[in-house]
Amino acid sequence: MRTAGARTFAMTDIISYAPEHFEGVDRLWSEAFPDDPPWNRADAAIPAKMKVQPDLLLVAVEDGTVAGSIMAGYDGHRGWLYAVAVLKTHQRRGIGAALVREAELRLQALGCTKVNLQVRSTNASVVGFYKELGYAVEERVSLGKCLPTCTGSPR
Ligand SMILES: CC(C)(COP(=O)(O)OP(=O)(O)OC[C@H]1O[C@@H](n2cnc3c(N)ncnc32)[C@H](O)[C@@H]1OP(=O)(O)O)[C@@H](O)C(=O)NCCC(=O)NCCS
Repeated sequence: MRTAGARTFAMTDIISYAPEHFEGVDRLWSEAFPDDPPWNRADAAIPAKMKVQPDLLLVAVEDGTVAGSIMAGYDGHRGWLYAVAVLKTHQRRGIGAALVREAELRLQALGCTKVNLQVRSTNASVVGFYKELGYAVEERVSLGKCLPTCTGSPR
C-alpha cells in the first residue's frame, strides 16, 4: 500500500481526494452508510469539506477503484475523524488502518495532539477496529445542535 508520502505496503494508494474520486466515494458511502441522512451524502458533504481543510479528505485507491475513505478535521484543539469506510470486498486487508494512520499523521502535522471520533451505538462492533489502532472508549455523552443555517438535521 502506498501513501502520498514515502510509506509503501502494497498496491493501494492513500491520497488526498480529487474530483475524479467523487463517484467512487459516493458508491463507497452508499454501501458503508446506507442509512445515513441526505446531508451526509457525498454531494452535500464533499463540496463542504473542499472549503475547509480539503487535504483532510483522503481516499484509498486500488487499481483505479476507490476502496476506502476517511475525513478528518482539526479545530485548533482536537482532531476528529469521520467517514471511515472500506468497500466490503476490500476489508480486513489493512486499508482502514492505513487510512486512519495517514489521517493521524496529517492531523499531527497541523499541531493536533489528540484525536476523537464517534461511533453510532448501532455500530458498536466497529469499536474493535479502533481499539486495535490504540483508541480507547471514553466516558462521554455526545451532544449536538443544529445551527440556524442548517437545512436539515446534520449528524
Ligand atoms: C471499520 C472499517 C473501516 C475497517 O476497515 P478494514 O480495512 O477492514 O480494517 P483493517 O483491515 O485495517 O483492520 C485492522 C484491524 O482492525 C480490527 N478490525 C477490523 N474490522 C473490525 C471489525 N469489524 N470488528 C472488530 N475488529 C475489526 C482487526 O483486528 C483488524 O486486523 P485483522 O484483520 O488482522 O484481524 C470497515 O469495516 C468498514 O468500512 N465498515 C463499515 C463502515 C463503518 O462502520 N465505519 C466506521 C464508522 S465509525
